Amino acid sequence: MTAPQRAGILGLGFYLPEKVLTNQDLEKIVETTDEWIRTRTGISERRIAAAGENTSDLAVGAARKALAAAGVSPEELDLILVATMTPDMPCPATACLVQEKLGAHQAAATDIAAACSGFVYGLVTASAFVNSGIYKRVLVVGAEVLSRVVDWKDRSTCVLFGDGAGAAVIGPSTQGEILSTHLGSDGSKVDLLKVPGGGVGQPASHASVDSRAHFLKMNGSEVFKHAVRGMSEAAHVAIEKAGIRPEQIACVVPHQANVRIIEAVVKHAKIPLEKVYLNVDRYGNMSAASTIVALCEAVRDGRIKKGDYALLVAFGAGLTWGSAVIRW
Ligand code: UT7
Repeated sequence: MTAPQRAGILGLGFYLPEKVLTNQDLEKIVETTDEWIRTRTGISERRIAAAGENTSDLAVGAARKALAAAGVSPEELDLILVATMTPDMPCPATACLVQEKLGAHQAAATDIAAACSGFVYGLVTASAFVNSGIYKRVLVVGAEVLSRVVDWKDRSTCVLFGDGAGAAVIGPSTQGEILSTHLGSDGSKVDLLKVPGGGVGQPASHASVDSRAHFLKMNGSEVFKHAVRGMSEAAHVAIEKAGIRPEQIACVVPHQANVRIIEAVVKHAKIPLEKVYLNVDRYGNMSAASTIVALCEAVRDGRIKKGDYALLVAFGAGLTWGSAVIRW
C-alpha cells in the first residue's frame, strides 16, 4: 500500500485592482511625503479597488486563476476558505459569496479571521483537512479591500495599506508540499491593531461613525516590535520542524507590511536579504492577501523553483502569526 500524499499546492493565482495610488497622490490627501513613506516602510504605490468592486470579486479573480493553474474545476472543490479582515458584509461569510460566484456547488465555505496572518492560517487549516483525508481539494484565498476601512484622515495608517487577492488550491501532492507549519496568537495585545466599531461591542451608531470607530487603528511602533519578534520566532519554528537549516531556504516569502520589519526578521533568521521576495514597494500591506500574492509572484518570477524550500511567514492583528516551510 502506498502512503497517502501530504498536502501540497496544486495551483496559484492572484488578482489586483487596476487603480494605482502613488505616494505622490497621497501627498495631496494627507500631510505626508513620498520620502517619509519610502524610507519608513519601503512602499511606493498600492492598488485600490474600484467602486463596487468588493473583497469577494477580488477573491474570485484570484481563485479562477488558481483553479485554472491547478486544472481543478469549481465543482471539484470540497472546501473554500477566505482569509480576510474586510469581508463584503459581517454575515454571511465572504467565502459563501465566492462559492456562489465560482459555481462551486459541492464545497463547504467559511471565512478565516486572522488579519494579516489569515492566509497562513488558511493554508494550515487546508493542509490539516487534506492530511487527515477529510478533503481532497481546498481553495484558500487571502483577499482584502483595506482601502474601505482605513481612515483617509489618519496619515499614520492610510499610507500603509492596499487592496488585492491571492489564492491557492491545496490537495494531496508532492508539488508545493507543505512540510511544516506553525501558528500562534497573543490576545493580550488586541488593542494594538483593531477596527473597534461594527461588532456587537460597538455597533454602528451615529456616535460610532462620528468617533471614526469603523476605521482601522494601529499603534504602529508597538506592532513593529512585536512583528519582528513574532515573525523571527515563527520562522525559526517552521524551519526547525521541517528538519532543515536556514541556509537551505531558497526563498523567504514574508508578510509585506514594512521592509524594515522584513530586514530585521531575516537578520535574526540568518538568511540573506537577497533570498527574500519583496513586493511591498508596489502593493503596500494587503493584510491576508499579502503573503499569497508574494508567493504567486515569487513562483512566477522563478525565484522559487522545483525542489526549492520556501518559507512563508506572516504576522498581524490579534496578535496572530504563522509560518510554513514548503518544498516546491
Ligand atoms: O500588517 C501587520 C501589522 N502592521 C505592521 O506590521 C506595521 C508595523 N508598524 C510600522 O510599520 C511602523 O511602525 C510605521 C510605518 C507604521 C511607522 O513607522 P515608525 O518608524 O514606527 O514611525 P512612528 O510611528 O514612530 O512615527 C514617527 C513620526 C511621528 O512624528 P513625531 O511624533 O516623531 O514628530 C509621526 O507623527 O512620523 C510621523 N508620521 C508621519 N510623517 C509623515 C507618521 N505617519 C506619517 C506619514 N507621513 N504618513
